Amino acid sequence: MVDGRVARTWPRIKVTREIMKIALGVSGGIAAYKAAEIVRHLQERGLQVQVIMTAAAQEFVRPLTFAALSGEKVITSMFGSSAEEPNLDSAVEHISVAQSIDCLLVAPVTADVIAKFAQGIANDFLSTLYLATSAPVIIAPAMNVNMWEHPATRANLEILRRRGVQVVEPGSGYLACGMVGAGRLAEPEQIAAATLECLGIAQDFAGETVLITAGPTHEPIDPVRYLGNRSSGKMGYALAEAALRRGAKVVLVSGPTALQPPSAAHSIFVETAHQMRSAVLDRWEQASFIIMAAAVADYHVKNFASEKIKRNGPMELQLEPNADILADLGSLRHAAGRTSPMLIGFAAETGNLLENARAKLSKKRADAMVLNDVSRPEIGFNSDRNEVTIVTSSDAILVPEASKLKVAQRILDEALRLRQTRAALSPSRSS
Ligand code: CTP
Repeated sequence: MVDGRVARTWPRIKVTREIMKIALGVSGGIAAYKAAEIVRHLQERGLQVQVIMTAAAQEFVRPLTFAALSGEKVITSMFGSSAEEPNLDSAVEHISVAQSIDCLLVAPVTADVIAKFAQGIANDFLSTLYLATSAPVIIAPAMNVNMWEHPATRANLEILRRRGVQVVEPGSGYLACGMVGAGRLAEPEQIAAATLECLGIAQDFAGETVLITAGPTHEPIDPVRYLGNRSSGKMGYALAEAALRRGAKVVLVSGPTALQPPSAAHSIFVETAHQMRSAVLDRWEQASFIIMAAAVADYHVKNFASEKIKRNGPMELQLEPNADILADLGSLRHAAGRTSPMLIGFAAETGNLLENARAKLSKKRADAMVLNDVSRPEIGFNSDRNEVTIVTSSDAILVPEASKLKVAQRILDEALRLRQTRAALSPSRSS
């Protein structure tokens, strides 16, 4: 509920985003159930997880567990599961999975699977995928201590390490077999962290709460019509995705868009500027960064009609200004004598670009304005690409044309850098 009214749920369609996809191989062992927690950790970072289970793993955990968690069909065999209705696509599925993944993680990996990988045996989906993929491979072993220390396992692991396979070492302690020693699966969090590191995703936003606004706002004229703008929400959603990957807790306050929000974000759907303002002001104090990527309507219709307006000659709409959410945040933060949260706005301009962005920066007491030339169709509204200039009180940093996700990463880099600079200049006021 926002503002006493239930925010409308807008139809959501999946759009192409630069989602990173992990294939998670689960092999047979008591620790197979812990892979469920690994799925959760990876999904919290906005990664898509395709689970592949060996036949032995299915003796320990049902595929349904992973299907429900990952939201994806679990691959359980090389040729589909039904003999009566063979899946023709499955004959080449290992190739399409091999080509689409950014990383193959096997956790837990058994001595048997390690041996198969080392020797190039490809007699099930997982071992075939290992041969077919050129993505980086990470394995997290779990087994009995004697199996772990056996020269055969050591030799096979050495072969894999030489090939560049990363091994997340098992821990020591009581093992499921009753013995004590090395062989216990590393902690799911540690395995997820190793995977993110392997993908080159720094966790430099861990512990931060990033509040992001996205999309347009719609200002009703009557129950069927509204005033709106051309914002697609793609830039704000890309920022949410990027911040999640880097370990942030993300609150996404979204106007009406056709986009699917990242499932790990806490998403709040609003329609009007007034509702967006309430949603942001209710939460601003918990955020360490607020990025206002939304194209907030500057006016709402004062003479809003509660019944559908009938066509009846010329008509006039009376427009009243909306409150400026970013400027309100700037004033609230100033009044509280705080430097947190960092406030980053967007300046959508068609002319006098730098001059207008600088004026907005100081008027709204923001820390940075991301200047967007919306007159260029290739990078403007609804485009998947963007080129921006990050304007601060001392700098204007050009981020050359790139996908919105890459631009989002650069904005986050600068936001962190700016906060560090501020903290170094006034260490006593950094809260
Ligand atoms: N913004 C806001 N509340 C508003 C209008 C804008 O918080 N009522 C925020 C936007 O989310 C953006 C920044 O202010 O981060 C600048 O928005 P923009 O539309 O470029 O500027 P305006 O201040 O609305 O000025 P103008 O439309 O006159 O250029």
